[in-house]
Amino acid sequence: MSQDEDRKRAEHLRREIARHDRLYHELDAPEISDAEYDGLFRELKAIEAQSPELVTSDSPTQKVGAAPSGLFSPVEHSSRLLSLDNAFDDETLDAWYERVQKGLGRAPSLVCEPKIDGLSIAVVYEKGRLIRGATRGDGAVGEDVTPNVATITTLPKKLDGAAPDWLEIRGEVFLFSKDFAALNERLRAADKPTFANPRNAAAGALRQKDPEVTRERPLAIYLHGLVRIEGRSFKTYLEAMKYCASLGLPIHPLARACADLDEAKAFIAQIAEQRRALDHEIDGVVIKVDDISAQQELGATSKAPRWAIAYKLPPEQAHTKLNDIQVSIGRTGAATPFAVLEPVRVGGVTVQMATLHNEDEIARKDLRIGDTVIVQRAGDVIPEVVGPVVARRTGTERVFVMPEACPNCQAALERKPGEAVRRCHNVDCPAQTWGRIVHFGSRSAMDIEGLGEQTVLAMLDLGLVEDPGDLFSLGREELSRLPQFKDKSITNLLRAVEAAKNRPIDRLLFGLGIRHVGVTAARNLADHFGSIDAIVAASTEDIARVDGVGEVIAESLHAALRKPAIIAIVDKLRAAGVKMQEERKARGGHFEGLTFVITGTLSSMSREEAGARILELGGKVTNSVSKKTSYLVVGADAGTKLEKAQKAGVSILDEKAFVALLEGPPGGPS
Ligand code: IVH
Repeated sequence: MSQDEDRKRAEHLRREIARHDRLYHELDAPEISDAEYDGLFRELKAIEAQSPELVTSDSPTQKVGAAPSGLFSPVEHSSRLLSLDNAFDDETLDAWYERVQKGLGRAPSLVCEPKIDGLSIAVVYEKGRLIRGATRGDGAVGEDVTPNVATITTLPKKLDGAAPDWLEIRGEVFLFSKDFAALNERLRAADKPTFANPRNAAAGALRQKDPEVTRERPLAIYLHGLVRIEGRSFKTYLEAMKYCASLGLPIHPLARACADLDEAKAFIAQIAEQRRALDHEIDGVVIKVDDISAQQELGATSKAPRWAIAYKLPPEQAHTKLNDIQVSIGRTGAATPFAVLEPVRVGGVTVQMATLHNEDEIARKDLRIGDTVIVQRAGDVIPEVVGPVVARRTGTERVFVMPEACPNCQAALERKPGEAVRRCHNVDCPAQTWGRIVHFGSRSAMDIEGLGEQTVLAMLDLGLVEDPGDLFSLGREELSRLPQFKDKSITNLLRAVEAAKNRPIDRLLFGLGIRHVGVTAARNLADHFGSIDAIVAASTEDIARVDGVGEVIAESLHAALRKPAIIAIVDKLRAAGVKMQEERKARGGHFEGLTFVITGTLSSMSREEAGARILELGGKVTNSVSKKTSYLVVGADAGTKLEKAQKAGVSILDEKAFVALLEGPPGGPS
């Protein structure tokens, strides 16, 4: 081979080795055998030995401890590590319990445990000392990862009390969610690839050659099966597990005895409900026959025991194809790329779109159009694209390039230094106009029922509106041109628009969609100035003095209110008779001039009620403690605000004192 060919081949081999390293260590999804990996490594070494000038500092041959294969010595398990049969619905679960009853001639009691989304591990203690930890491997032969297992702080190196001569036990190695999040945070800060989920991170950690690296990824374990113990026998699984717990071994705190299948089903429902609140990932519930002699009677197939079953909960991650990346323009002109996905069921819903936030995020995740990607939807959380499955790339994937022009109006998309977002600065951009009108009518703004996204789109298409101000001059005739708008829907929308004329002015202010002016700022501004005109007349400094409104908001608001487009909207709203001024409530309560912050949970009223009472009495409520705070009202489980208030010397009221103060000023008229 020529020098040039050698160089190219070496580069190719380095890329391949790095890719297989990632597949093996991080994704736990090797594509090639250890022998094949060895071959790649040997070939690279040979080229580098022949032409040392081709050695690069990042070559895998230069890494300490990057032994190519046979990373760990094999361990033959004393009995196979079996898998579990799965049930995805109640019928399968019922059928399983029927088979169990038939096999035993009675209905046995059960024990249920969360099914931890981790990796099986077989652990051996001899004379109370941890002597081995081995991975599942192919079930018959695993890998000896004892030094790594020994890093698990909750797994005793030496058992408590009078330990048996020999104890063989199996369990699940995993990462607690908080440790996983911290690990990914560290990797992100170091510009390294992150893990898609705690399981992959745990798999990588367990197979580290250097246990010190494992230690940096704090593994955890719960034990879920006693295999052999010298000198003792147990009647039930729970009894055995309690004994193990007495030796200091970690057993899942939620393991529970269930007298029958109905109780087991109730447990499943409860765990499904709590799933998000658990401190680690689970993928189901394992239901086991508790009686050990019954377990023995039922036995196992070659794959799984007959005495247990896994009830699987819907997966919160799935693989799908990233068909395209498109860009949408929001009401403030922000250009947001989003993923167009091959529809996939995840977390119990079908997902076909997901925001990708901005171009840097796409580059950081190295997402390419055509990639197979991991999609995640946990609980009520918005679906997200976690990252690509690099191993599934075919070479036809395309790198996404953020468009230079707005896809809706073709104006240039500009990205200011220091900002991650590109924006379309054309105020007449149809996408922005649409977004502004939808926002104006939305629930937290003017709350115009029946003014949905599609209706606004149709209004714009027909040229019925140009801005939110036009909504109030629409008559029956105009609305009748909207597709699918009949008498009743027309009347309803007209009524809804009419009702919106009387909304409190903070909703109007928020509805204008001015950058940085959120619900709270709008409320404080409305409270302070009392009318839209007074806000328009105020200087930036006046505005910035309002509680909870800083310079950023003040400048943005002041500038926006001077833009012709906003002036035109406000004029139209005024002409249509939309309320522009708050009828000031008769003030003069004994809280006049006082500012309150409420923290923690109150027992006699909600925080909202407490806030309303304060306002009624002429006081103000803000969200954060500052020098201007007169009182911090402290309920149960108060957080950092209490510390802050103590440091700032703010007066603190417990609930009792607060309620007393509501009744009247201290020492006031009796
Ligand atoms: S009992 C004979 N209990 O799930 C196998 N397994 O999909 C008996 N797993 O290989 C296993 N949590 O690694 C059991 N509470 C639990 C579990 C659990 C997770 C794993 C285990 C098993 C796999 C089967």
